[in-house]
Amino acid sequence: MADQLTFAAFAGSLRAGSYNRMLLNAVVKAAPSDVRIDVIDVHDVPLYNMDIDGDKSPEPVKRLRERIKAANGLIIVTPEHNYAMSGVTKTVIEWASRPPEDPSLDLKPAAVMGAATGGFGTVRAQANVRQTAPETGLLFLQDPEIRVSFAQKKFNEAGELTDEDLKKQLGTFWTAMIAWTRKMGR
Ligand SMILES: Cc1cc2nc3c(=O)[nH]c(=O)nc-3n(C[C@H](O)[C@H](O)[C@H](O)COP(=O)(O)O)c2cc1C
Repeated sequence: MADQLTFAAFAGSLRAGSYNRMLLNAVVKAAPSDVRIDVIDVHDVPLYNMDIDGDKSPEPVKRLRERIKAANGLIIVTPEHNYAMSGVTKTVIEWASRPPEDPSLDLKPAAVMGAATGGFGTVRAQANVRQTAPETGLLFLQDPEIRVSFAQKKFNEAGELTDEDLKKQLGTFWTAMIAWTRKMGR
């Protein structure tokens, strides 16, 4: 495996003031300098539709698949909507999981994390993302779990992470994620 690891990453929220996007920015900031992170903006990825999949799949979908494929690992930062992952997260996973003979996700080391304004820190959404593993082939890091509850108290108005405990958790996350990716990517 190449010395320098590349991680594709996306946040499954489209709103301008997304806490999950803030969390993703904090993850990027906490990364060691020798790691490359390809943050994928998923605004232009349409809802999954099998009718437009295949050779004529939309350009943003082709780019999404290529970028995930080119990465050594994937970081999914998801909101929790109605006790499950957001529709945005789901549609990105759906596109990336196809076509079955050339999927972008199969055997890809992956991490899931998320931020919520309530007290459960996306724990149910994260379980929902992990549940896709038998079909997607994603190899999920188990520990540490980054579950950000009461997100509105952990980022300032500029969207920067202010919570010292979470900063420490992100350092621990990176150590674990890099080790996991090297181990699984052998
Ligand atoms: C449709 C909808 C459903 C939601 N359901 C949940 C939920 O089940 N659990 C939860 O903790 N928060 C829920 N929330 C609140 C989200 O945690 C909050 O909106 C959060 O800011 C979403 O992430 P974002 O800031 O990245 O968009 C819900 C929000 C929306 C809009």
